[in-house]
Parts: sequence; C-alpha cells; structure tokens
Amino acid sequence: MSPPPPPIVSTVNLVKIYQNGGVPVPAVRGVDLQVEAGQFVAVMGPSGSGKSTLVHMIGGLDARTSGEIWLDGRRADTLSESAWALLRRQKIGFVFQFFNLVANMTVADNVELPALLAGSSPREARERREYLLGELGLADRADSAPSQLAGGEQQRVALARALANRPSLLLADEPTGNLDSRNTRDVLRLLSEVHRDGQTIIMVTHDARVASLADRVVSLLDGEIVDDGTVGPARRRPRATAGDVVELRG
Ligand SMILES: Nc1ncnc2c1ncn2[C@@H]1O[C@H](COP(=O)(O)OP(=O)(O)OP(=O)(O)O)[C@@H](O)[C@H]1O
Ligand SMILES: [Mg+2]
Repeated sequence: MSPPPPPIVSTVNLVKIYQNGGVPVPAVRGVDLQVEAGQFVAVMGPSGSGKSTLVHMIGGLDARTSGEIWLDGRRADTLSESAWALLRRQKIGFVFQFFNLVANMTVADNVELPALLAGSSPREARERREYLLGELGLADRADSAPSQLAGGEQQRVALARALANRPSLLLADEPTGNLDSRNTRDVLRLLSEVHRDGQTIIMVTHDARVASLADRVVSLLDGEIVDDGTVGPARRRPRATAGDVVELRG
C-alpha cells in the first residue's frame, strides 16, 4: 500500500514573536495546522489575533521565530530565501490586502507573468488569463494599467494573478475586503470553481458568508487556534454539485 500523500501545508508548533521597540509581541503562539490537498480552509478571528502573520509565514513572506513549516512534504522554513522564492513561484499563489500589481504592465501582463515564470507556454498563459479575467468580470480591462482601476478591480486582478500558475496552494488575506456585494459574488464563484477543480485554499476572512464556502473554519485568538471545525457534511464532498453554484449566484 502506498503511503497517503503528505499534507499541502503542515506547521509544527509555529511561533512568531515581533519585537516592538524591544518589547516582544507574540503574534502566533504555537500553531499546529495541517491542510490536506484540495481543502478550502477559512481562517477567522478578531483583529490582531495573528491571521495575517500566520499566512505570511506559511508563504515565506515573514520569518518564523520558531517551529516548522512543511509545504507539500518538504521542510520549507529552513530553506534559503532564494530557494523559498523558487518554491513559492512554483507552488503558491498569493492575494494580500495590498495588491502589489506591477504598475507599468497591463492587467493582462500582470496576470500572465506568474504563469510564464512557472513555465506555461504563452498560449496557455493567455488562455488562463482570459478565463480568469472573464470569470471576474474584468475581460474589458485587460489592456488597462493597474492605476486606471478601482481598488476592488485591482483586488480581483490580484486574485487572477494568484491563480494564473495553478498553484498547489492559494493563500488569500481577505480577498473580498474591498469589494461590493456583486464583485464579492464573482470572487466567491471563482474560488468555488477552482476549489471544485481541486485547488487547495487557505483564506483569511472576517466575513461569515465567505467562510461558509470553506470546508473548514480555523479560528484564532491571541495567536492560538481556539476552534477548528469542518463546516458541515455537505461541504466535505470532494465535488460540489451544480446546485452549490446556483446557490452562490443567487
Ligand atoms: N510588523 C509588525 N511589528 C510588530 N508587531 C506586529 C507586526 N505585524 C503584526 N504585529 C502584531 O502582531 C499581532 C497579530 O497581527 P496580525 O496582523 O497577524 O493580526 P490579524 O489577525 O491579521 O488582524 P487583522 O484582522 O486586523 O488583519 C498584532 O498584535 C499586531 O499588532
Ligand atoms: Mg490581517
């Protein structure tokens, strides 16, 4: 019998202590989190509970103070910065609160770049970009510069860019934070679609409607996991039915 595949993400007693003018600020205090391939995990908790710090560490954007991070069965926290950057480019898509789009490239190029860097052909990258921007209602903005877009549009472009290279793991920090309800619905529909196709997602959100799409909700308080539960048996099916999508479009 072959062993089960490793989790996509595994943290072991993960700790982050910031130093604030010499005063230690514990932001993440001993988090053990395993996320299996294909799972959609919502991370919730009050402001300051350590959600962003946790997902930044998982993505290698913030150094841990102690503990271990494993990505796809590989120890990641001991990698050099350049090795981690490579792993990230191949395996992780990010959507953060600040979108970091490249200002002097068009929307289309911003979205295609990660796919090209990860080795897609120009044609694959273009088709993926057309699909993602279309799903997000941004097809007609492909030739715009990021500065010509509203904040919520930039946020959706950042999501398209994060999904461009079909990453093993999508990390998102409040991807619907600046969106009105129609745009939120577009984002949630796309997240559900890619999740149905097997995308693993870890998403920070304050919004219970957004969390209700997840398979599992992990709640943080003061840097610790205080609750970790699957949302309901219906969500644990590997594939959603058409009914779920209709419900989202509602
Ligand atoms: N760069 C930093 N330097 C010092 N302290 C920090 C830094 N970043 C975060 N913190 C502190 O770490 C704790 C956790 O912050 P974090 O940003 O992870 O919270 P959060 O759950 O994402 O909050 P929010 O919902 O407001 O985004 C807070 O006490 C915060 O003040
Ligand atoms: Mg945050």
